[in-house]
Amino acid sequence: MKVAVSFLTSNNIKEDLLKLDKTSTTYIHVDVMDGKFVEKINEPYEEMKDLSLSKKYDVHLMVEDPIPYILKYKNLNTECITIHHEIDKDVFSLLETIKQYGIKCGIAINPDTDINVLKDYLDKVDLILIMSVFPGKGGQKFIEESIERVSKTKQMIKESGRDIIINIDGGINDKTISSVKEVDMVVSGSYVLNKDDFEEGIQTLINI
Ligand code: DX5
Ligand code: ZN
Repeated sequence: MKVAVSFLTSNNIKEDLLKLDKTSTTYIHVDVMDGKFVEKINEPYEEMKDLSLSKKYDVHLMVEDPIPYILKYKNLNTECITIHHEIDKDVFSLLETIKQYGIKCGIAINPDTDINVLKDYLDKVDLILIMSVFPGKGGQKFIEESIERVSKTKQMIKESGRDIIINIDGGINDKTISSVKEVDMVVSGSYVLNKDDFEEGIQTLINI
């Protein structure tokens, strides 16, 4: 299982990023919020820009207008940038823009959005991010209906014959991860960050 640790709930971003860089996490998940698509604002770029970590970033843009953020985060060691289906923008052209910078592109889908909308993205994305909480804050409870949504997405990808990573984000911990074993990757924030030893939490998730 691939793991991306979210540092959204961190009280000391630089220190926690340096700590995470020494762990076995596959990626570091960067939650960006604009106060419009979601209520809160979270923009860690300034704290990140001078760090040169060996881990790559998995960037999750919870923003209405992704372009300014794509232009910033493309300059970091970014593996993938994920934008939301629900924004009021030309999402297909934004996905193309991300790809033009040589970065993998992902589409995120909220818990109350019809899962069938993903069909239109199957030939356009490298990654699908199933939100298992409503985006906006860390430490929320995993929404059980996400299990069924993962299975349906897995089936859709299989039928398409394309190689698309399924990622899941929200409320993932040592208990909930066993119900979403079909995914390729999980995002986990508070479960890992609340431990003194990040590696212990990451190992539990990786070995599921
Ligand atoms: C939710 C964010 C998540 C979240 C994960 O809006 O996209 O990445 O911070 O944190 P936990 O694992 O605490 O739900
Ligand atoms: Zn996220």
